[in-house]
Amino acid sequence: MKKFRIAVIAGDGIGKEVMPQGMGAVDAAARLCGFEIEWRPFDWSCETYHATGAMMPSDGIDQLSQHDSIFLGAVGFPGVPDHISLWGLLIPIRREFDQYVNLRPVRLLPGVKSPLADKKPGDVDFWVVRENTEGEYSRIGGRTGSGEDEAVIQTALFTRKGTDRILRYAFDLARKLDRPHVSSATKSNGLFYSMPFWDERFEAIAAEYPEIAVDSHHIDIMAARFVMKPEQFDVVVGSNLFGDILSDLGPGCTGTIAVAPSANLNPERRYPSMFEPVHGSAPDIAGRGIANPIGQIWAGAMMLDHLGEAEAARLIIAAMEDVLGSGRYLTPDLGGTASTESMGRAVADRISAKS
Ligand code: NAI
Ligand code: MG
Repeated sequence: MKKFRIAVIAGDGIGKEVMPQGMGAVDAAARLCGFEIEWRPFDWSCETYHATGAMMPSDGIDQLSQHDSIFLGAVGFPGVPDHISLWGLLIPIRREFDQYVNLRPVRLLPGVKSPLADKKPGDVDFWVVRENTEGEYSRIGGRTGSGEDEAVIQTALFTRKGTDRILRYAFDLARKLDRPHVSSATKSNGLFYSMPFWDERFEAIAAEYPEIAVDSHHIDIMAARFVMKPEQFDVVVGSNLFGDILSDLGPGCTGTIAVAPSANLNPERRYPSMFEPVHGSAPDIAGRGIANPIGQIWAGAMMLDHLGEAEAARLIIAAMEDVLGSGRYLTPDLGGTASTESMGRAVADRISAKS
C-alpha cells in the first residue's frame, strides 16, 4: 500500500486542539482511497522554547527533510515574543525548504455567513498566491543612533529569479482554472524600485501565457475591490507583504479566518511542503475545546492534493462543505455549540460514509 510519511507539528494553543481533527479527516480519506499515512509528531512549540531556549533543535530542518510533507497547527503564544516563534520555526522551514509559494484559497463556503452583503457560496472563489521567501520580509537593514537620532532601515529584496518563479506559478495555476485570469498586486506609484520591477516582470511572464487574461491593481485599491467586488478575482499574485495582507483579507471577506487553509509549497518537490490553517494559536479560546477545526481539515485536503491524492482531497472538501451546510455540529465562532472534536468527527464520519 502506498504510504506517506508526514511530520506533524501541532504547536501551541488551539494548534494542539485542531490537529487531531485534521489528522482524523486525512486518515478517513486515506482509508477510502487505499493509501496510508505514517504520522510522526514533533513537539516543537513555545513550550519547547521555554524548556530549551530554542523553538526546534539545531538539526530540526534535517529531521523534517525525511518527510513527504509537514502538517502544522499553529505556533506562537503569549510569553514568547512573536518574532522569536516565527523566525525560530516557521520562517526557517519556509526558507530552508524553499517553499516559495504560499497558496490560499478564498472561498465562501455553505453555512458560513459573509460579512459582505448578499454574497452566497460561489460568488467569492479565488486563489491568493503569495511570494513566501524574499521581498519585504528580509533581515537586511539595521539600527543606528540613539535618542532623537535613532534610525532604522529595513530593506526589501526582489530577485529576478524569485519574482519570475512566483509569477510563473500563478500563471500555471490559472491555466488549470475555468477562468484563466491573473491579477497582480502592485504599488509602483509609491515604491520607487521594487514595484516597477515587479510590474516589468509581470508583463514579461504574462507574455509567455498569451491565453491568460491579466490585470494589475495598486494594493490599496485592490484591498477595496476585495470587499466591493470579489467576483472579479480568480488568481491574485503578490509579494510577501502584499500577499500576506491579502491572504487574510480574502478569508476575512468570506466570513472567518478559522476555516481558511494555507499551503507553503516547494513546487519542484525537492523539499517537503508545509500545510497549515491560516489562523494562529488563538490564546483567547485555547484550552476550551471550542476551536473550529475546518481550517486544519481543509489544510489536510490541500496536503493530499499536493501528494497526488486528488480524489481524497475532494472527499474531504465535500464532507466539510456538507457538515457546514447542514448547520449542525458548528463551533461557537459559526454560531453553533459544537466542540472541536464533535465537528471534526462529523467531517470524518461524513467521509467514511462515502464507502
Ligand atoms: P489568531 O488567528 O490566533 O486569532 C485571531 C482571532 O480569531 C482570535 O479571536 C481567535 O479566537 C479567533 N480564531 C482563530 N482561529 C480560530 C478557530 N480555529 N476557531 C475559532 N476562533 C478562531 O491570531 P492572533 O491572535 O493574532 O495570534 C495569536 C498567536 O498565534 C500569536 O502568537 C501569533 O504569532 C500566532 N500566529 C501563528 C500563526 C501560524 O502559526 N502560522 C498565524 C497567525 C498567528
Ligand atoms: Mg498572515
